Amino acid sequence: MKAILGIESLGTDGLRRLLDRAGWYAGALAAGERLHPTLAGTVVGTLFFEPSTRTRISFEVAARRLGADVASFDPDQSSMSKGETLQDTVLTVSAIGMDVLVVRHGEAGVPERIHRWTGRPVINAGDGTGEHPTQALADCLTLTRRFGAIAGLRVAIVGDVIHSRVAGSLLLALPALGAEVVLVGPGTLLPESRFRSTDDLDSVLDEVDVVYLLRIQRERGAEGGSGYEEMFRLDEPRAARMRPEAVVMHPGPINRGVEIGSGVADGARSLILTQVANGVPARMAALEQVLGVLP
Ligand code: CP
Repeated sequence: MKAILGIESLGTDGLRRLLDRAGWYAGALAAGERLHPTLAGTVVGTLFFEPSTRTRISFEVAARRLGADVASFDPDQSSMSKGETLQDTVLTVSAIGMDVLVVRHGEAGVPERIHRWTGRPVINAGDGTGEHPTQALADCLTLTRRFGAIAGLRVAIVGDVIHSRVAGSLLLALPALGAEVVLVGPGTLLPESRFRSTDDLDSVLDEVDVVYLLRIQRERGAEGGSGYEEMFRLDEPRAARMRPEAVVMHPGPINRGVEIGSGVADGARSLILTQVANGVPARMAALEQVLGVLP
């Protein structure tokens, strides 16, 4: 497969294969094992047209862990400021000699266009309100390592679901792997979907294994509306009503005091930094997949 643009095209078997490899890498990294440089001699280009902390850095670490070189494109310091178009820019970067392009862009569909224009392997690192498949992969890896399996888990996805590309990918990946999903938020922030939905967070807290929080995507014009924090923020009194073994997840960046209280973000139920750490093995597997070296 020459591109990872979304979850659906992976298929359930493909998703499981990526998770197996990512899980193997997670174990190897934790054990400090020396890794075979499966990407030696390749160049991974990271093209982030929107800000990122964890996705960009974890892709770059993942590439280097496997022996690849990394070329990092910064649009603000590029010749786009002199009028070069997006298409000419990516064709130029590609001509320098990239083996794979990792692309983030504010508009859904741009990674697919770049794949078409360049003929290069492309990984979607988040496209507008479209998808963020490697975040979903990191999250599924996190759940698998925590619970042993995803099948049978009940997951509440809470907040600005409609604008979230992470939700776009999770709503494909989690059911494919056998989880049950409930969407929680104000009606204005929930998509029309086949999933059960509610605006009453308190009503689902004691029935789910995972509360997966999302920030309000203000950069995409989203607003929570009055009383949002009171209704949807997961703070310590609310988290205390969760099942004893239930966990809290968030793809980051978190907005403390808005969708999550600090006591919860930093508390024992929180897997937020585990999700970040698992981004590296997940992206190692994704890079291997598009470069044709996934075993
Ligand atoms: N979760 C996520 O995509 O975070 P960044 O924007 O920091 O990459």
